[in-house]
Amino acid sequence: MQQEHSILFKSKVNDYAAVAVEGESVLQAGLRQSVPLSYHCASGSCGSCKARLVQGALNVYTGADFIQVSHPVGQTSVGPEVHLCQSHAVTDCIFEASCDDKAPAELPTPKHYVALLKDVQSLGSGLHRLLVEFDDAVRFLPGQYVMLDAKAGGRARAYSVANFEQNSRQLEFILSCNPNGAVSPLLCDANSIGRELRGYGPLGKAYVLPKPDKELVMLVGGSGVSVALSALQWAISTQYTQHRRLTIFWGVRDTSPVDLIRVFNRCVATHPNIQVAICSDVAPSAQDSVQFPHVDFFEGYPADHIVNDASISWEDKEVYISGPPPMVDYTVRQLMINTEIDLADVKCDSFV
Ligand SMILES: Cc1cc2nc3c(=O)[nH]c(=O)nc-3n(C[C@H](O)[C@H](O)[C@H](O)COP(=O)(O)OP(=O)(O)OC[C@H]3O[C@@H](n4cnc5c(N)ncnc54)[C@H](O)[C@@H]3O)c2cc1C
Ligand code: FES
Repeated sequence: MQQEHSILFKSKVNDYAAVAVEGESVLQAGLRQSVPLSYHCASGSCGSCKARLVQGALNVYTGADFIQVSHPVGQTSVGPEVHLCQSHAVTDCIFEASCDDKAPAELPTPKHYVALLKDVQSLGSGLHRLLVEFDDAVRFLPGQYVMLDAKAGGRARAYSVANFEQNSRQLEFILSCNPNGAVSPLLCDANSIGRELRGYGPLGKAYVLPKPDKELVMLVGGSGVSVALSALQWAISTQYTQHRRLTIFWGVRDTSPVDLIRVFNRCVATHPNIQVAICSDVAPSAQDSVQFPHVDFFEGYPADHIVNDASISWEDKEVYISGPPPMVDYTVRQLMINTEIDLADVKCDSFV
C-alpha cells in the first residue's frame, strides 16, 4: 500500500493541511492540494520554497544524495530550514512556510501524470523538440513548465511547455541537450521514443497573463524559445495580436534551427502585430534574410539590441525573459540600466 503522511503548513495568514504520498516532494504535495506555497524553480536552486520544519522527519535531496533531517516533538530548539521542493516526508510533518495568498485564480492546480515520449527531433544548435503524450489533458498558462523524469524514482527536471492548446494531452518541449546531465540526454535521444515518463505540473510563476494596458516583449535565449513559442500560439489563438503587439527577441548560437525560424517567419508574415528578431552569436548570413524575409536577423545578444531600440516605449510593456541563467541575469541588468521599465513588469524563468 502507498505510504501517506499528513502535512500541516502554517503561514503568517492561514494554516493549510495536505497529504504527501510516496515519491512526491512536500512542495508537490502542497501545490497539488491547492496550498499557495511560495516557490519558483521547483529544482532546488532559487531558495524561494524555504520553510522551517517545526515537527517531523524528512529525506532531503542534497544534489547528490538524500540526508535525513528531523525535528522531534518536544524539541525546544528552533527547527531546521529546508527546501520544500527537495524534501520528502518520512513522518507526518508541520512546517512554517511562506505562502503567496494572492495567487491568481486562473492558475491551474498541478498534478502527477504518466506520459509517453512520442517523438524527438533534433533542431540544430543543440536543441531538440520533444512531443510528449500525457495520460490526461493538461491545463496550463503559457510560460509554465512541467517536471519530467525518464526513470521511475529518478530526479525530475523542469521543462517549459513550447505549444499552447488548452486541455490537450499532447505537449511539446524544446530541450537543450546537456551531454553530462542525468535527464536531458535521455530525453533527447531518439532511441527513447516510446519510453514511459513521469510528469508533474503545470508549475511556474512566470506565466503570460498580460495586463490589459500592456504589450508583451519576450526576450528568450537558447531553449528559452519554448516560452516564446507557447506565448506566440496563445497570442494568435486568443486574438491578442489583433489589437496589441507581440515582440520576440530570440538569442541563439547560430541560425541552424531553421524549423523554428520557419514557424516565426510564417507567423510574422500573417500577423502584422508580431515582430521577431533572431540574435545569433555567429553572424547571420545574407541567405538567412532571403530564406526568412519576415524575421529580422542580428549578431549579438537580444538585450543589446532591444535596449538600443529607440522606437520602443517601455511604460506600456510587460517583459518575459527565459533561458540560461547568464542570459537571464545579463538581460535583467541591461533593462535596469538602460530602460525605464518597472521591475514589477518583468517576469523571468532562469533555466537552472
Ligand atoms: C523553470 C525552469 C524551466 C526550464 N525550462 C527548460 C526548457 O524549456 N528547456 C530546457 O532545455 N531546459 C529547461 N530548464 C532546465 C532543465 O530543467 C535542466 O536543468 C536541464 O535540462 C539540465 O538537466 P540535465 O538532466 O541535463 O542535467 P543535470 O543532471 O541537472 O546536470 C546539470 C549539470 O550539473 C552537473 N552536475 C550534476 N550533478 C552534479 C553534482 N552533484 N556535482 C557537480 N556537478 C553536477 C552535470 O554534470 C551537468 O553539467 C528549465 C529549468 C527551470 C528551473
Ligand atoms: S529551491 Fe525550491 S522552488 Fe526553487
